[in-house]
This record gives sequence, structure tokens and C-alpha cells, in this order.
Amino acid sequence: MLIDCDPGLDDAIAILTAAVVADLIGITTVNGNVGIEHTTHNALAIVETAGLDIPVHRGAERPLIADAVDAHHVHGATGLGSVDLPDVHRTVASHDAVGYILDMAAGVEGLHLVAMGPLTNIALAIQRDPGLPQRLSGITIMGGAAVGGNVTATAEFNIWADPEAAAMVFRDAAALTMVGLDVTHQVLLGATERDRMREAGFPAASLAADLLDYALERAGEMRGWAGAPIHDACAVVAATHPHLFDGDLRHVEIELHGRLTRGMTVVDQRGLSPLGPPDTNARTLVLHDVDTPAVVDTIVDAVLALRP
Ligand code: BDR
Ligand code: CA
Repeated sequence: MLIDCDPGLDDAIAILTAAVVADLIGITTVNGNVGIEHTTHNALAIVETAGLDIPVHRGAERPLIADAVDAHHVHGATGLGSVDLPDVHRTVASHDAVGYILDMAAGVEGLHLVAMGPLTNIALAIQRDPGLPQRLSGITIMGGAAVGGNVTATAEFNIWADPEAAAMVFRDAAALTMVGLDVTHQVLLGATERDRMREAGFPAASLAADLLDYALERAGEMRGWAGAPIHDACAVVAATHPHLFDGDLRHVEIELHGRLTRGMTVVDQRGLSPLGPPDTNARTLVLHDVDTPAVVDTIVDAVLALRP
């Protein structure tokens, strides 16, 4: 697995999860929840805290065309809430995330890409080498929603932050799984999970507990929820434990122009072509159901398994 991310509270917990449940070979960073300096620094801090030997490659500092946006109101000014990060000694392996993605796809049989930020790096990689999708075993994205949105009424943050990039990825990906808000809003982690990680007491578990604590505060203030969605970790688990999810193949397009709908993932729920037979464009596996307790346990158990 290769993770493309913008840490981000939930990206951080997703990286910790992936380090246990997957063979995680590398991390690329992208501008998103906060600027690229912060997302890259955060990725380095996470791997260092957890003692992981995983390279971090810095990626795009702005969307393809759209103005840069962020989500610091959710993730805090530097992206990891108010967590006290240790001094970071690791440095990036390169400033060429796109080149790294292409090299790994060429050299690693069965590589699965899990994208949990705006899709800028992935789109740039496809632009540089249109053969990329065929060399991956699949792309799983946290992004979009069959119904609704979070940053606007119709758009989810990762798609909304770089809709042109998302349009390219949804058009060109060979095997794409969409883990949208339909799924991630069903997987809320709460005080019980935070306390399990807090009590474990080692650095990676304490970091995850602090991040979840901050996410819980935000989810309470912003939505009145008692649990916090850890969106990106769901995408990791969807890639490694597909039997815990249900979905349908659908034709999905990204709305680029609508005044109220820019960044919307328009999911054709008919599953039919306009003339009736199955839609041959219905190529995106859109997940909608999830075994919530199993996914929550998978995430928490993974973090606890990082005990040095
Ligand atoms: C997605 O947007 C980001 O803020 C999160 O990290 C997640 O990837 C949820 O909409
Ligand atoms: Ca993210």
C-alpha cells in the first residue's frame, strides 16, 4: 500500500492503522487540510513517533487549477489539533511525490494506492504517465458522497478542494473504490476508543488518543455528535478488509461548474445506461454499508499493536 495524504487528524490515525494492517511502503503528502509544509511535517512526525521506517515524499503545494483552500477549522492551525509533537528528526525522501508514485507503481507488483486528501498528486501522476492506473491493483479514495457533503451541502472536502484533479482520477482510474461520507459518517470513534488508546500509554497510542480527543471536541461543537468520524482510516480498512463493506458499481462524475454543486460526486444510482442495459461506465465501487463495530475495532486494535 502507498498512502497519499494531508495529515490531518484522521490521516494520522489512518497512517498508524495502515502501518499494522497493510504492507505500507511509503507516504506522499499533498496540500489539503493545511499547507504542504505542515502536512509533510506532520507525516514525518507521525512515522517518527510510531518508530516506523516508511519514507515520506512531499507533493503538490496547490490544486491543479482551483484556489487553495484548507480545513484548519477542523484540524487546527497546523493540522494535528493542539497535540504537542516531539521534535522531528526525519527528513523527506524527496520533493517529487509524483515521481515516487510512478516509480513504485512500476516496481511493486500489486501496489494499492489509498488517497486520503485532495487528488492533486494522483492526477499529476496520471498526467505524467497515463498508463499508471493499469499498473496499480487499485485506487481507494476517501472522498465524495453519494448523498450530501460536509464542506458544502453537496461536496465533500477532498473532492471540493481540487475538483479538476478528482474529475481526472474518476475518469481514468482502472479500479476505483470510493469511500465517501455515506460510509465514514457511520464509523464514529468515541470516548471508549480514546480511553483504550490513552491507557495503552506508549507514544503512538498517546498520539492517537490526543488526536481523537481533538476530533471529538470538534465533532461535538460543529455537529453535536458524541463520536468523531475518522474518515481516512475507513479507506485503509476498506482496502485491507473489503468484506466489512458493501457497495455497488456506479458511474460517478465530478461536477465542476455548478454554483451550488462544484465538487459534488454525482453518483448515477440507476446503474443503467440511458437506454436500459447495465451502464458500462459504472466502474467506481461506491461503498455504502459498513460493519461499524468491526471497522472501529480494526482501527483501535491496529493502533494498540504498534506497542514497541
Ligand atoms: C476528509 O477531508 C479531510 O478534512 C479529512 O482529512 C478527510 O480526508 C473528510 O471530508
Ligand atoms: Ca485527509
